Amino acid sequence: MTGKDRDARVLALYEQVLEIEERLIPTGLHVFGRVDEERARVDMLRMVASFDRPEKGVRALTDLVAEGLGFKDYSALLRARAGDEDALREREEVDALVRRAVELFVQEGTEAAARLLETNARVSAEDTRSTFHLLERVCAELKKNQEMESLLRALRGQYIEPGPGADIVQNPLILPTGRNIHAVNPYMVPSEVATTRAEATAENLLERHLREHGRYPRAMALVLWGLDNIKTEGEGVAQALWLLGVRPLRDSLNRATEIEVIPLEELKRPRIDVVMTVSGIFRDLFGATIVLLDKAVRRVAALDEPVEMNFVRRHVLEQMSADGSFDEAAVRVFSNAPGNYGTNVNFMVMDSQWETAEALGDLFVTRKCFAYGRDSKGRAFEGREARLCMDRALSRVEATYQNIDSFEIGITDVDHYFEYLGGVSKAVEKRAQARPAIYVGDNLSRSSCVRSLEETVQLETRTKTLNPKWYEGMLKHGFRGVAEIESHVTNTFGWSATADAVDDWIYAEVAKTFVLDEAMLERLCQLNPHSARSLVGRLLEAEGRGFWKAEKEMLERLREIFSDLEDQLEGVA
Ligand code: BEZ
Ligand code: MG
Repeated sequence: MTGKDRDARVLALYEQVLEIEERLIPTGLHVFGRVDEERARVDMLRMVASFDRPEKGVRALTDLVAEGLGFKDYSALLRARAGDEDALREREEVDALVRRAVELFVQEGTEAAARLLETNARVSAEDTRSTFHLLERVCAELKKNQEMESLLRALRGQYIEPGPGADIVQNPLILPTGRNIHAVNPYMVPSEVATTRAEATAENLLERHLREHGRYPRAMALVLWGLDNIKTEGEGVAQALWLLGVRPLRDSLNRATEIEVIPLEELKRPRIDVVMTVSGIFRDLFGATIVLLDKAVRRVAALDEPVEMNFVRRHVLEQMSADGSFDEAAVRVFSNAPGNYGTNVNFMVMDSQWETAEALGDLFVTRKCFAYGRDSKGRAFEGREARLCMDRALSRVEATYQNIDSFEIGITDVDHYFEYLGGVSKAVEKRAQARPAIYVGDNLSRSSCVRSLEETVQLETRTKTLNPKWYEGMLKHGFRGVAEIESHVTNTFGWSATADAVDDWIYAEVAKTFVLDEAMLERLCQLNPHSARSLVGRLLEAEGRGFWKAEKEMLERLREIFSDLEDQLEGVA
């Protein structure tokens, strides 16, 4: 290896460490009715302060500091990648100063923090006033907690003040917590901001696919969640429209009820066919949006364009020549049967109730093959079973995609990401006879980006499951904390089961950290022996199903430990 290669590798490694450091890592569970500790408050405020909010006249501290120090604008520093050592150093300098300013703000208040930035970054107090003003309000709300009081009021059947449902960083107005959450007006979705952000993400995704696979995906399967689209005012919806090459049009009441086709000359790429699986929550909340999405697909399918530039038309024509009507061939929005929710793929995985991985994909389709939209005569077909349509639509899919919907909850924190994105990917694998490329959108950090599923699993493992800051935070919660650690391991396993996306080193490091370290195993067993046993059992299951090539000695040790734990729990030993 030359000195230059080595420098490049070190820099790339350094960049990964920065990526991990940048993420908001929850260091414990939220305890109902209790306010967070100061350190968690600082982390949260730092994230709030890292976003421009033009509608409130609030500038991001990161951007103000970068300007004050005479660097490139902060977004450019974030975009600068391996090799650009200067940009990395400058970005680190900005981040460190912002962190110090926010810490000082929490300890001593606005004036001290503003003075620090004036002295060290030549940012005038005038420029930071509105930002600190926002932080003051958020900080004051974070110190209050009316959750228990509101619960008691609810139980007494009394009035609870309403508030918007969103993510604190995306919309600090959700504070204080403990209010009656309301969603969005579905006719406003997607908002203009969502549309702008979605274009960047979708282009990012297509570029990456083109770079790695040599062409655009002809069809993609997208997962759309309700809560995600509430929080982002419909970024997921806007991404689907952008992939199709259309924009939402607003009527005289400012409702997004119509579609405008973007001409191919402007789009400069083919229209991508999209198969949308929407959650039960999305279906219940966004009826008007489902009609809009279905309308968009039909409009695009009917455009008189060359099929190599319009994959929707290509597939619909193919389907119609084989059999069936336009109405059958153009179905693309699927969800549960009316009144039903979820895929059950998570339960099948957690209970080890499956023989072949195919069963997981088949279960996904069984639960989600109900079509929503309108036919050519405008008649609604709300939730009619359309298994054959879904099988055919998925058989053409080459890439799958879902957005991460919150700063705090990622793809290994809950079982729902693998049940949806994993479930649909496994269903595609059988029907298309090839595993799709699987992407996860992270539009939460400032450097909005699309990662492969494998990259995302690695990042989450490093920032959470294997990070002492995270698991020690969990262990402070005793019984529940151990259950959380076990649940992370099971959710990670879920990505093996549905998408084969977990490297051997992940299982090996989990085993070393939580099981083969005697002191740690002892702590877990003291706090929650059942979860400790499940964790070891899950590692053995990963090996048994061929997801992990474990070293022989390690495997034997795990088997012994598992058997001891079983004996202890059954009172034999
Ligand atoms: C949602 O639609 O927001 C959702 C679906 C499944 C699990 C969690 C959230
Ligand atoms: Mg749940």
